[in-house]
Amino acid sequence: MRIALDGPSGAGKSTVAKALAKRLGIIYVDTGALYRTIGLYVRNKGFARTDIANIIACLDEIKLGMEFIDGKQIITLNGKEIGDEIRTGEIAMYASAVSAVPEVRKFLLETQRKIALENSVVMDGRDIGTVIIPDAEVKIFMTASAEARAERRFLELKAKGEDCTYEGVLADIIERDKNDSTRKAAPCVPAQDAIHFDNSGLTVDQSVEKVIEIIESKKR
Ligand code: DC
Repeated sequence: MRIALDGPSGAGKSTVAKALAKRLGIIYVDTGALYRTIGLYVRNKGFARTDIANIIACLDEIKLGMEFIDGKQIITLNGKEIGDEIRTGEIAMYASAVSAVPEVRKFLLETQRKIALENSVVMDGRDIGTVIIPDAEVKIFMTASAEARAERRFLELKAKGEDCTYEGVLADIIERDKNDSTRKAAPCVPAQDAIHFDNSGLTVDQSVEKVIEIIESKKR
């Protein structure tokens, strides 16, 4: 069983996917973490987000690893395990920028496909149903209003002690939405056969239940 869970930033995909993976006893794959890791490397090299030539050139220096230990996704960058340093607002913007570069997408393609080929997965991202697993058994395009997503993300970042404002988070979400949905390479758009699910106003538990319903209806 392969479940492709796509949608814009902050729609709650990862929270729902994690709960879902636990319920179904399958692996949760967070593909955004791969783009964030490349974003981190580019930032640490001191390159601008717009410096496409250097972004492409530095891919040769990167060896990415992704494995699952007790269901937990572990990413390594040149042998070093990556943690929460990719979960900042700054790295999110770098991730969005590098993800628009076709060479970066190509660089990460096989890592993602291999995992989906060898395991039952719920994989969250932007192009899972359109590019990575076009033959997934279930495809869901999950979204929520920009305001609902900004509020969730704002509370999350605040809880982690990041210095941010709701307005700033909303502006970043709107900018990332625009970058991610209008880029030429694998834009964040629903697959033709994806089921659309807007979870504005729903709790995590309600969203998980709804997704389970969608999966059950697909099985029938
Ligand atoms: O899901 P996330 O916020 O961790 O993703 C970070 C960025 O990576 C996001 O701006 C879009 C990009 N991304 C992508 O282009 N394709 C994916 N499959 C996953 C993420």
